Amino acid sequence: MVIAIDGPAGSGKSTTAKHAAEKLGFIHINTGAMYRGIALKCIQGEIDLNSSSEIDKILNQTKFEFGREAGSVLFMDGVDISSEITSSLVTESVSRVSAVPQIREKLVQYQREMAEGLDVVLEGRDIGTVVFPDAEFKFFLIADIEERARRRKKEMETMGEIVSLRELTAELEERDRKDSTREHSPLKKAEDAVEIDTTGLSIDEQVNRIVKIVNKSIK
Ligand code: DC
Repeated sequence: MVIAIDGPAGSGKSTTAKHAAEKLGFIHINTGAMYRGIALKCIQGEIDLNSSSEIDKILNQTKFEFGREAGSVLFMDGVDISSEITSSLVTESVSRVSAVPQIREKLVQYQREMAEGLDVVLEGRDIGTVVFPDAEFKFFLIADIEERARRRKKEMETMGEIVSLRELTAELEERDRKDSTREHSPLKKAEDAVEIDTTGLSIDEQVNRIVKIVNKSIK
């Protein structure tokens, strides 16, 4: 069974998906983390995003695994990259990297293979529209930009990065613009997705809304 959770950056997808998966006993797949992993490799290898052979080489050599017990931990080629991929450097380049059709095609295929035959909560931008248009459950999370910037600030502070709310708001607005206006699989709500505004909701409230809908329908 597939539960798709989409929405813009900072809308609460990752925390909600992680806890909902734990409560339901599902696997959690954070597809944004995979795009971030490829962005990290592109930075490290100084990859030219206009060179399809350079991109191909990276894509064919990359293996992703999500730690089942530890929840959302992502291993890329056997290495835990969960914290490295949340750096400002990766965040600045990930929208550009995730707009490359060659990268999207490969990761979408990878995501479908990873989820095959399993009970999964997948979170991202295009899960309910492109990756699993027939997902049993689809949710679209939104939140006010100020709240999203505050959440991102908190996350960055835990990593020792201090950035002003003004800068973070601008960064989120820019990422929203890029993610929603790109040509391939732009961020958009699937017509049949349930929208949840997480502004002012606690994590428990966000998670419970999803778990309740799923449990009610399964029973
Ligand atoms: O969820 P996130 O902010 O960590 O995602 C990082 C970037 O990856 C985001 O700016 C858009 C892109 N992304 C995407 O294009 N498709 C997905 N399914 C997930 C993320």
